[in-house]
Order: sequence, then C-alpha cells, then structure tokens
Amino acid sequence: MASTADQTLRFTSLPHPAPTPADLRAQILANPGFGTNFSDHMVVIEWDEGPNGVGGWHDATIGPRGPIALDPAAAVLHYAQEIFEGLKAYRQQDGGLALFRPEANAARFNRSAERLAMPELPEALFIESVKQLVRADRDWFPDVEGGSLYLRPFMIATEAFLGVRPAKSYKFLVIASPAGNYFKSGAPAVSIWVSEYTRAAPGGTGAAKCGGNYAASLVPQAEALARGHDQVVFLDAAERKWIEELGGMNLYFVFADGTLITPPLTGTILPGITRDSIMQLAREEGLEVREERYSLDQWRGDSASGKLIETFACGTAAVVTPVGKVCGRDGEFTVGSGGPGQLTGRLKARLVAIQRGQAADAHGWVVRLD
Ligand code: PLP
Ligand code: COI
Repeated sequence: MASTADQTLRFTSLPHPAPTPADLRAQILANPGFGTNFSDHMVVIEWDEGPNGVGGWHDATIGPRGPIALDPAAAVLHYAQEIFEGLKAYRQQDGGLALFRPEANAARFNRSAERLAMPELPEALFIESVKQLVRADRDWFPDVEGGSLYLRPFMIATEAFLGVRPAKSYKFLVIASPAGNYFKSGAPAVSIWVSEYTRAAPGGTGAAKCGGNYAASLVPQAEALARGHDQVVFLDAAERKWIEELGGMNLYFVFADGTLITPPLTGTILPGITRDSIMQLAREEGLEVREERYSLDQWRGDSASGKLIETFACGTAAVVTPVGKVCGRDGEFTVGSGGPGQLTGRLKARLVAIQRGQAADAHGWVVRLD
C-alpha cells in the first residue's frame, strides 16, 4: 500500500510513572520463561491515509508499556489485518547489546505487509524502533543461560469500519519480553505430532507472518500437546505428503552422508531467518544443503534405515532444537538416537556464538546498539 517513506521520524519519549520495582524485575529475570513477562516500555507509531490516498507514518513515541485503546469496530478485530515479527537482542560477551539480522526482519515485515494489504514501514524506521525499545529496556536482559530480550514488532489495522477492504489507519508497535527457553520441558530433544490439519495452502498466507496463520494453528498445536508432544508438524495442503514446518519453526533433515535438506520456500512456509543463517553456516562448513521437498514417508523410511541421522527445528524463539520423536496417526518413529545429534549441536553452537559476540561475525549479521 502506498506510503510516504519518512525515515526521519523523531521519537517522543513519554515519561514512565511506574516502572516495575527492581526486586520484581530481578525475580522475572532469574526465571523468564517465554512470552509471559514484559518489559516497561513500548514503541507506538501511527499511520493514516491522507486525503490524496497516500498515507504516512507519524507520531512515533517510546513510552510506558500499557493497554491501547481500540474502537470495537477496528478492522483488526474483525478481519485479522495484523502482522508481526520476532527477533532477539543479545547481551554480548563484552557486555554490550546487539540485535541479530534486524534488517532481515524488517524486510520480511514489509513482505507480510504487502500480502495483508498494509502499509510499508521503512526498514530504517523498523530498526530504529527496535533499537529505541532495547535502549529503554536495557535493564530487562535475563541472567539465565541462553537468555535474551525477545522483541515483538507488530502492526494492526485500527480503522473503525466493517466493510471488507484494507483499512485506512494502522498502528505499529514494538513490545519486549525477557526470554529463556521456549520449550518448558527442557528435554534434550522434542517430540512432534504430525497433524491432519494443514497450515497454509498454495496462494494463501503461509509465507506471511500474520496472526491469522497462528490462530489456525492453535487447534493442531493443542492436539499435539494433549497427545504428549511438544510441537505440531504440518504437511502440505495439496498432497498431504510433504513436510512443511512446525507451528513456529522451520525444519532441517541431516543425513549420514553429511548432506542437509530443508523444505523449499514455495510460499506455504515462513522464510525463517534462522533457517537462512543455518544454511549459510552449513555451506561454509562445506556441507551440501538442498532446499528440496521431503516426505513423511521418506522421513520414516530414512530414519529406520539409518540414512537420516538427525532432524532439528530452528527459529528465533526456539533457536535450534533437536527433534527426537515423530508421531502421527500411522504410528511413531525415532529420529537418530532420539536425542540431540552432533551436527545439530555444532550448528547451534556456531550460531549462538555469533549472536552473543563470542565468535567473529563474518556476515555482518550482528548490529550493535552502542
Ligand atoms: N516458521 C514459523 C511458522 C514461525 O513462526 C517462525 C518464527 O518466527 C519460523 C518458522 C522461524 O523463523 P525465524 O527463524 O525468522 O524466527
Ligand atoms: C519466533 O520464533 O520469533 C516466533 O515468532 C515463533 C512464535 C511461535 C513464538
């Protein structure tokens, strides 16, 4: 949607009347979990369509985190015109703070915006918003191993209008949540359930990070949990045969001959930034990585024959997580040893070391805040 590309927007700082008491914050940071606790601040930026049909971003604020007022007819509440991103800020080895590939999140945000008929947000403004929030909430980094500050930029349609068309006003917000492990169980490898529901069809919104995709994944995910698994895995909608992705992570299959396969970006899965980073790191190690369709039958057969030795899921929230067991209506099978695989561990360690400033950043992925 047409938008003026104002990258020079000035942020107004709103005073915080009641920040979280230090002892409560310390308690949260010692045991952050995932997604249940929030920092003190948020960024809000408004967009409105002007009389000439060209809209613009205005009124950028960084202020106290709190409820937002919405008209009950706001378009997001009726037609789910909403998109979001997920990225993390990491405490660096030298004590500084840094983001990981925020420009990739900014670019994906705009691809999601285009699919959902929402206005583009200049990438520089996306990144500046995130930086503003991390600076304001720099006391919100967890003390735990693997901890980070999870950042959630999102955009909602705010116009009060019940006709079905793109809204004429939007809010962009960024909130932050101190994060530890995504998986509660802390198990060395996760168990996944092959759903009979599908997540995305060709031509749909599978490649966009829009709330509606996640709403539709809740029943299959709840089914996975009820059956004692950690996550759901989706098959393709057309043939119900090819592995797509988990509810919130991409997948990699690791073979005994040292090759890796990950499902291709055909429009029905999210183009994960972790997926892309792993691909680059693995290729640099001389490993062959193929973006290729891989079926549930192949997965089962190759696990039984020993051709496939590891499978891992990857994403910002879950980082790199080994998959040990797969279960569906046709029975279950174990992947490799059922626990974390060697290559999975090595790739995870390399990625995490770059993110935390413990290894050289040859790709320019790390964006420091100081
Ligand atoms: N797939 C889905 C459905 C996701 O929600 C996510 C998480 O953002 C991913 C994959 C992994 O993407 P990324 O590595 O960019 O976090
Ligand atoms: C992320 O990894 O950032 C996501 O958005 C996934 C979500 C399931 C938490």
